[in-house]
Amino acid sequence: MNAGRFVVLDGPDGCGKSTQARRLVERLGADGRDVLHTREPGGTRTGEAIRALLLDPSRGEITLRTELLLYMASRAQIVEEVLRPALAAGRLIVCERYLSSSVAYQGVAGGLGADAVAQVGAFATGGLAPDLTVVLDIDARAGLARIARGKDRLEGRSLEFHEAVRRGFLDLARNDPSRYSVVDARGAEDEVASRVWTAVAPVVASSSS
Ligand code: TYD
Repeated sequence: MNAGRFVVLDGPDGCGKSTQARRLVERLGADGRDVLHTREPGGTRTGEAIRALLLDPSRGEITLRTELLLYMASRAQIVEEVLRPALAAGRLIVCERYLSSSVAYQGVAGGLGADAVAQVGAFATGGLAPDLTVVLDIDARAGLARIARGKDRLEGRSLEFHEAVRRGFLDLARNDPSRYSVVDARGAEDEVASRVWTAVAPVVASSSS
């Protein structure tokens, strides 16, 4: 049986992670892999309800610490309900966003601090870390241009905020190069997909016995 593997695709708003996650899952499926595709916030009924609360501009003020804890609550739920059982069953997980997003958005850009967020994250996840996090890197201006229409509550924040988010992701990758891979998210969808594949293939190969 294959050993379970946990791969995360993450990055700033407009980096194209949903498209790339879908393409990665399709390619893995075509290779005969049993893949679970999920996302954060969300991925469970409880998590999707928390997601709606977080992203709906009409719900009013959410303080930064509350926001962090809502993301963490969604994460605690998906870890126990979905991720750990899937890994125990030897499945390959492709998850859009994870703790790295909280570190970049609430920790670095929001100002709570990367270390504080990592500590709360260790509690929420019970220490479950991805085998690989692919950071789809794009500068803030280019990322925001991709999502100019239909911004949700969070995407409407300043350019400076989004620049800090990007720095947060790049710092995470720099500090833990064996568990992160930075992929240039500019250019044609096909080109980015092949860069993602190059990053993920060794992790997937090492799970086949
Ligand atoms: P996302 O799934 O990227 O939404 P969409 O697919 O509509 O772009 O994530 C929604 C927002 O949530 C995004 O702006 C990033 C933010 N976010 C955090 O701020 N902290 C977190 O821990 C997570 C998981 C997401």
